[in-house]
Amino acid sequence: MLDVKQLCKDYSGLQAVQGVSFQLHPGDVFGFIGSNGAGKTTTIRMLATLLEPTSGTATLNGADIQRDPMEVRRQIGYMPDFFGLYDDLKVWEYLDFFAGIYRVPPRERPQVIDNVLELTDLTVKRQAYVQTLSRGMQQRLCLARCLVHDPAMLLLDEPASGLDPRARAELKELIAELGRMGKIVIVSSHILPELADFCNTVGIIERGELLAWGPVDTIIRQIQAHRSIMIRMLERGPEAAEFVSRLPSVLAVTPRGSHEIQIEYAGDLEGQAEILATLVRDGYRVTDFREEQADLEDVFLRLTTGAVQ
Ligand SMILES: Nc1ncnc2c1ncn2[C@@H]1O[C@H](COP(=O)(O)OP(=O)(O)O)[C@@H](O)[C@H]1O
Ligand SMILES: [Mg+2]
Repeated sequence: MLDVKQLCKDYSGLQAVQGVSFQLHPGDVFGFIGSNGAGKTTTIRMLATLLEPTSGTATLNGADIQRDPMEVRRQIGYMPDFFGLYDDLKVWEYLDFFAGIYRVPPRERPQVIDNVLELTDLTVKRQAYVQTLSRGMQQRLCLARCLVHDPAMLLLDEPASGLDPRARAELKELIAELGRMGKIVIVSSHILPELADFCNTVGIIERGELLAWGPVDTIIRQIQAHRSIMIRMLERGPEAAEFVSRLPSVLAVTPRGSHEIQIEYAGDLEGQAEILATLVRDGYRVTDFREEQADLEDVFLRLTTGAVQ
């Protein structure tokens, strides 16, 4: 597992990262979200052992990023936010080169290269020159290069930036697959929707501070002050709105057209079930009754505008 403890980084007076702590387990895909300058790259570079923390530390499967950086490096694949490829190499030569750097024994390299090419869907490009690949393919090749030594953790700094929607979708699928393979994946972005649908864990960083982190559902639950319930019925929508507004713990009711109402509700699940039962008892013909989940975007905005402490 990865255990990050009170990680801090100061740049001559500027506190770029301030006491960041979180834990991740194999299979966790952690969306590290924050606007530009929030401290994502600085945090990731410390975890990649490329930058000394001012204080605090982190351990990956027991290896400490400061005391045992070489062991940590063996266990991670790091994809920086800007990367250069070596133009005059073919795809397989490029991967062979990195397999060499990571000390993959020569006998094992052909198999390793086949595996990472297949995983990143680049098998047909094995003989192509790196510079002839599309941007999306180059990004996947860079990820393939991070996988040749079968690392336990991947650090992907804004991997989706500059990709078209199709390439982005392919990258998402690949990252989700890495999670299913049991790797820890940290993937940063300043664009929330890029991450929302395939991470099981998120962290929201702002001005160097991790404002919240944890499983996606839990974070949404914590931030959502009250429930929002949508009710649809065959007829008498406005009447139902009037009726529901008198029930306990109902804070506000908004009619939506003639068939739908939306209510803000501060009660518990028991009370929620009671609302439905009461409506039905009173002869309303309900066709849909559902709690509307706040999404990560709501959470992000509430947190970063200081609406929640
Ligand atoms: N080498 C550096 N020297 C001084 N300040 C830096 C350096 N690198 C980053 N910073 C500052 O630290 C803060 C965090 O930057 P960074 O980690 O790159 O954020 P992000 O990746 O979230 O955009 C920013 O205010 C940035 O200007
Ligand atoms: Mg960055």
